[in-house]
Amino acid sequence: MAIQWFPGHMHLTRKAIAERIKDIDVVIELLDARLPGSSANPMLAEMTKGKPALKVLNKQDLADPVRTTAWLAHFNAQSGVQALALDASVAAPARALVAACHALAPKRGGLAKPMRVLICGIPNVGKSTLINTLKGKRAAKTGDEAGVTKLEQRITIADDFYLYDTPGVLWPRIIVAKSGYNLAASGAVGRNAFEDEEVALELLDYLRQHYAAALQARYKVEDAGGKSDEQLLEAVGRKRGALMAGGRVNLTHAAEIVINDFRSGALGRLTLETPEEFAQWLQVGEQLDAERQVKKDAIALARNIRLKKVPRPPRPGSRGAPDNGEQEPSD
Ligand code: G4P
Repeated sequence: MAIQWFPGHMHLTRKAIAERIKDIDVVIELLDARLPGSSANPMLAEMTKGKPALKVLNKQDLADPVRTTAWLAHFNAQSGVQALALDASVAAPARALVAACHALAPKRGGLAKPMRVLICGIPNVGKSTLINTLKGKRAAKTGDEAGVTKLEQRITIADDFYLYDTPGVLWPRIIVAKSGYNLAASGAVGRNAFEDEEVALELLDYLRQHYAAALQARYKVEDAGGKSDEQLLEAVGRKRGALMAGGRVNLTHAAEIVINDFRSGALGRLTLETPEEFAQWLQVGEQLDAERQVKKDAIALARNIRLKKVPRPPRPGSRGAPDNGEQEPSD
């Protein structure tokens, strides 16, 4: 199963971002610190190309601090990019955000040239929580302020610092299978778009290789690193009393336990990907995606030829045919 999920309002969100982007000085992308690669949105990167970017690794309280440091270094090494880690317990996140934005766009600031910042993030990454903290007692949602469309809200962080929030979500097309699972484990994907058991098995598979001690501590299973993911799920179910009549393990219930423990931090501070791992997954995902696209194009071409929507290309070797050794797609 590859997880594909499309929350609503994509079209509206794209439109709102496209309209706003020309006046924006810095784009803040909120990422989930437990999956900074998978929670990034390539479509957003495409739409905001050329704009300075601030990557905020949110929910750092749930993530492995060593890996968070590695991800911050990874992003900070990119040109036009700064990164910082945050979580909801930070009482005044505005100071760090404002400083980072000024470093990214040093020519903005002051009443004549206020800093204009767009904030984006996939569902459940903590955007509303952060915005509510930033709003504090200061300012507010607007629909009828000059230059602010009905579709967005503007949060005044300082007299010369405006944060724009767009409605709905921009959901990435998932080309890395592992990202689908990690997004599902994190809570970003709607529940009916995946099977708990499959997501829990993927999660256990990763955790037993990288965080075996955390599994052993939480579930009191011996040799977590040496067990298969199926054996682990079964062991978790037994330890936690997720049993059916006859004493068999209720695997769906066991899977829910694992996923909830990951989401709540009960398993400890865990991060499901390193920059190097994610780069590798992405390379494989892009390769498979390109191969899928070639197959889809060939099928579409064959169909259009059959329906006589496009002329049949000349056979190789016949007069007028390019001698490129390519085969004609079969009907
Ligand atoms: P969104 O707007 O991006 O969709 O996310 P939202 O702020 O609604 O947050 C999604 C969930 O993540 C909420 O939990 C919220 O409390 C939690 N959250 C936000 N920021 C942080 C953080 O820095 N650390 C941790 N650990 N959790 C965070 P919920 O269970 O859906 O709701 P509730 O806890 O508010 O009841």
